[in-house]
Amino acid sequence: MKIVEQIKQPIAFEMELFEQKFLLSMSSKVALLNRITTYIVNRKGKQMRPMFVFLVSKMVSNGEINERTYRGASVIELIHTATLVHDDVVDDSNLRRGFFSVNALWKNKIAVLIGDYLLSKGLLLSIDNGDFDLLKIISIAVREMSEGELLQIEKARKLDITEDVYYEIIRQKTATLIAACCSLGAASVKPDSQHVESMRMFGELIGMAFQIKDDLFDYTEDQIGKPTGIDIKEQKMTLPLIYALNQADKQDKKWLINSIKNHNKDKKRVKEVIAFVKDSGGLDYAITKMTEFQDEALQILQAYPESKYKDSLKLMVNYVIERKK
Ligand code: IPE
Ligand code: IPE
Ligand code: MG
Ligand code: MG
Repeated sequence: MKIVEQIKQPIAFEMELFEQKFLLSMSSKVALLNRITTYIVNRKGKQMRPMFVFLVSKMVSNGEINERTYRGASVIELIHTATLVHDDVVDDSNLRRGFFSVNALWKNKIAVLIGDYLLSKGLLLSIDNGDFDLLKIISIAVREMSEGELLQIEKARKLDITEDVYYEIIRQKTATLIAACCSLGAASVKPDSQHVESMRMFGELIGMAFQIKDDLFDYTEDQIGKPTGIDIKEQKMTLPLIYALNQADKQDKKWLINSIKNHNKDKKRVKEVIAFVKDSGGLDYAITKMTEFQDEALQILQAYPESKYKDSLKLMVNYVIERKK
């Protein structure tokens, strides 16, 4: 059995029901909106965030979840989808999930509005049902994601990023939403329990590993359903490059910075930078750090009694690192 199927086994029923509810949560009276949201849902992502919501909620409640859990999962996936639509505008990327991105097909204007629409639908789903405790968790994540993307742009302009700032960026732009999945999963079934905070921490650590993996993909030529090799083009300095810069002598450093600043659209030069990063051990270093986050996440799980949900979460932790897309 494939690892994803194995992970999903204890939540197969919930994931199926979730898909129906998720589809309904997007509907609109405006025909153009429906055409685009249908386009989006027909190109499914990995749905890792709802999987985290259901696995965590079932682990802390012995399998007893409720409508709040379902709504939380939908809100998170709506917000995730909204940020991807916006992110492809920001990153000027025309490929997502193996197909054209929304901005590639309908242009930036429409992509921005679609992102806003999905975000508002998400927030309203919580508000209309009085899930204010969950809404708070989600809103914090939304704020941090915007801050993270902006901090990243600021650093891309100045090219003065350090390893610690990199961790802050990925914590904000990616890890907080996965942290929100896990704390919301716990809060939906056991509000005000200590699980809410320990699962938030678990999700944050996994989210860090998850984004390091995403950044490593950019250094490959693998078919992952979105462009690779675009981070340097966008002057996005990620962990492998930061490490290579820190290791480089003065002259190489100058060459690297000059390449990123002034030759980032030159394909041959970008290839040379990528080769330099690889030779400096930048990828190995990032893999080591990713594994450290993974190990810390697994330690948090150790405090929980054995169950099939916990087994799946352990597999999820490994999947984050071993996934092929
Ligand atoms: C992509 O997330 C955005 C990042 C935070 C790197 P996913 O890789 O979970 O995207 P989908 O939903 O599976 O397409
Ligand atoms: C993560 O950043 C996206 C968000 C947090 C919105 P990236 O720009 O690296 O994500 P991908 O690689 O485009 O999915
Ligand atoms: Mg992007
Ligand atoms: Mg990326």
